[in-house]
Formats: sequence, structure tokens, C-alpha cells
Amino acid sequence: MSENTRIKTLAAATASAWDAFVIVVGMLKGGTGKTTSAWFIALYYAVVLELPTLLLDADATSQSAYDWFKVAQAEGFEIPANLVVERYPFDDIAEYIREKRSEFGAIVVDAGGGSSRIFHEAVTEANRLIVPVAPTKIERRKLVATFDEAERAAARNERDVTAHVVLVKADDRTSLPRTAKDKLLEPAEGEGIGPERDEPFPLAETVIHSWVHYMEAFGEVPTELSEYAELMKELTA
Ligand SMILES: Nc1ncnc2c1ncn2[C@@H]1O[C@H](COP(=O)(O)OP(=O)(O)OP(=O)(O)O)[C@@H](O)[C@H]1O
Ligand SMILES: [Mg+2]
Repeated sequence: MSENTRIKTLAAATASAWDAFVIVVGMLKGGTGKTTSAWFIALYYAVVLELPTLLLDADATSQSAYDWFKVAQAEGFEIPANLVVERYPFDDIAEYIREKRSEFGAIVVDAGGGSSRIFHEAVTEANRLIVPVAPTKIERRKLVATFDEAERAAARNERDVTAHVVLVKADDRTSLPRTAKDKLLEPAEGEGIGPERDEPFPLAETVIHSWVHYMEAFGEVPTELSEYAELMKELTA
């Protein structure tokens, strides 16, 4: 191979290598909507943006994101060819994400709720951290610990990661979403972030509603992605 050809080949190889946009979905609490959010976001990147997408199930306790994939496969749903779903519930997940970055346009991590170590490690490699929270008091209480851990991890992140709280399971027929927004944006002392724990949470404007569509999505490949599409447009604008 001539020097010229070799350089051209190298250039082509570099041009086709990806540098994935990494979205970590995490909250140090169970049942908040992490897996559902991770799946919808992964489908948005794979189906709408048509990027090679990796959905990583890093939940050390339950692995529902991977089960979702297995059930969908078994039930004959067509999995987008550019979507790969893998399990990786291990403490060295940061290293794994770094390895996979050049193979995918987007990597979505379901960080689970049980391991602050995996959560921390994943956030060190994230471009966005998405923290789904339902508009109830008990869910909001776990945000403070989640953001404490996220802040420690962000200090080790070299990519200007931004963190966002997203209200999910919002039922506009009740006062809960309004109340939750107020409490997140004007927290009482001890219930916010920052050194005095009184600063507002970075709340996304886009709200994910409480829809049967989401409750029934497990094990399927939904095509109605509009709320999560809107969310990701907001958070990447
Ligand atoms: N927007 C929504 N509206 C209504 N129900 C929802 C919504 N998102 C998720 N759910 C339901 O909430 C429950 C928990 O969701 P999910 O499994 O995604 O949460 P999780 O945080 O991954 O839970 P775990 O910590 O157990 O892994 C499920 O029954 C799911 O169907
Ligand atoms: Mg889950």
C-alpha cells in the first residue's frame, strides 16, 4: 500500500468512527420510570434520528430493559436493525462506555436504582443525565441524594455533562404536577441542591404524562415517541 493510499484509508476509517452521545437515565430509587424512559429515548435515537444506538441495561438488580428486548423479540416485534440492547450491570461501566463510543451514534444507559457505584461510574461518561421523577413527595425526597452523587461524578466527567430532572407519570387532572414543579423550582431549605440545599433542580420543561401507552409499552416496540422526542430535542438544543 502506498503512503498516499494508507493515509486515505486511515482518514476514511476515522470519518466513519462514531463518538456516541451518551444519555444516562438514573435515579437512586426504584420504580420511578427509568427503564421506560431509557427505552423510549433509545427508540427515538434509533428510529427517528436513525443513529446506530446502544441501549445498555446497567441495572444490577432487575435487568428489565434487557427483558423488554427479549420479550419483544419473542413476541415477534421487529427490533430496529440499528438498535443493540446489551446487559452491563458492572462497576467498570465507564470503561465499557468509552470502548463502545466509537461504534454508536447514541448510547442510552438504564443505570437502575440500586447501585450508586454504577450510577456514579456511568455519569462520569455521560453527555446528559436524565433523572425521571413522578410528581409525588416520596419520589422527590430521593432527588437530593441522587444529585449529590451526580455532582461528585460530574466532577470527574470531561464532557460538560448536564443533568435534568424530568417529571414523568404526570396526570394533569390532578394538582400533583403543578405542586411538584413548584417544589422543584423553589425548594424549601434542605430539599434542594447546592451548598445550602436550597437551590432549584434543573427541571426540563417537557413533561412525560401518565399514559396507558407507557404502562403497556413493556415488551413492545412502540412507535408513538412524541413526548420523548420533544424531551430530547429540548435537552440537546
Ligand atoms: N409515563 C408513565 N405513565 C404511567 N406509568 C408509567 C410511566 N412511565 C413508567 N410507568 C410505569 O411505572 C412503573 C415503573 O416504571 P419503570 O419500570 O420504567 O421504572 P424503573 O425506574 O425502571 O423501575 P426499577 O427501579 O424497578 O427498575 C411501570 O409499571 C411502568 O409501566
Ligand atoms: Mg428499571
